[in-house]
Amino acid sequence: MEYHITALPGDGIGPEIMEAGLACLGTIAQKFGHIFHVEKLPFGGDGIDKENDPLPPKTLKACQNSDAILLAAIGGSKWDNAPKRPEEALLELRKTLGLYANIRPVKVFSQIAHLSPLKEEIVRGTDLVVVRELTGGLYFGTPKHWDNKSGVDTLCYSREEIYRIIHKAFTLAQNRRKKVASIDKANVLSTSKLWRKIANEISQEFPDVELTHYYVDAAAMLLMQNPSRFDVIVTENLFGDILSDEASILSGSLGMLPSASFSLDGPSLFEPIHGSAPELAGKNIANPISMILSVAMLLREAFQLEKEACALEKAVNDTLSSGILTQDLGGNAKTTELSKAIQERMIGGTQHG
Ligand code: IPM
Ligand code: MN
Repeated sequence: MEYHITALPGDGIGPEIMEAGLACLGTIAQKFGHIFHVEKLPFGGDGIDKENDPLPPKTLKACQNSDAILLAAIGGSKWDNAPKRPEEALLELRKTLGLYANIRPVKVFSQIAHLSPLKEEIVRGTDLVVVRELTGGLYFGTPKHWDNKSGVDTLCYSREEIYRIIHKAFTLAQNRRKKVASIDKANVLSTSKLWRKIANEISQEFPDVELTHYYVDAAAMLLMQNPSRFDVIVTENLFGDILSDEASILSGSLGMLPSASFSLDGPSLFEPIHGSAPELAGKNIANPISMILSVAMLLREAFQLEKEACALEKAVNDTLSSGILTQDLGGNAKTTELSKAIQERMIGGTQHG
């Protein structure tokens, strides 16, 4: 089959991990006989530098017309005073493409469970998914402005926005351990009161899925205390932003976790959950695994290439088992070495370690 992918390498370590991800995609193409047409375009700070715009119109157009979008990372202090910051371009891309459902799986690889700042017995076996609402809430609500005297953000959610994201979480849970944790602040916030009501309504449609409500503060604590109790976590935009970074710590490194964002009918976007880590840029030391696992998610979710996705995930797992690790995981492998090791394991060639 032939597929069209728009690749947005972005800033900081973005271009390096994008190379690693695309190299693995190339191996998949070779092994399974697919053709992936990849067009790399400027986005974020790279867009500001090259086109004076963090979301150049031709980048947006290519995203809209592709079968899937692969994004590495954007941002950096270099663009702090730009008229439009790289982060705003990401929000605009999400909103324009209607990417309302952000799926962030958090899995602890047993080979590196000891690297988590939490006790190994707490994190071992963690396998959860954060389903984060991505196009509503405080990020987008209006009025929204600030001056020297006051700042205003607006938290507003419609029934439709809440319904579709919670419905997505229940559908996901049906193919997992059948547990949905709905996170809100219904003791204080009006949007959360509506959220909780709709979650209860949807749970009637899914009698086989267990629904538990948590307040966000308690959920933040339980995520550290007993993460394996969670299966699917569903929450609004800002809570999801915070809780997914918190949950990422469980895996031992922020460099391990992929994500996918879905719209109702357009192309999906796949990206690591971490940022552009400018301090690591250009040194060939960044961990490319979150990017490579984002490629695996893209293969599975956007193209229904399940065995290709599994082959890539297995190669990542085998590489970790043989102790080829980047510095964030206590090793000394370079970005390119790790990517090479993963590619070799897919081809079944040279074995290291
Ligand atoms: C994320 C990031 C973004 C967000 C930033 C870069 C705008 O933190 O994808 O989690 O807050 O959504
Ligand atoms: Mn975030």
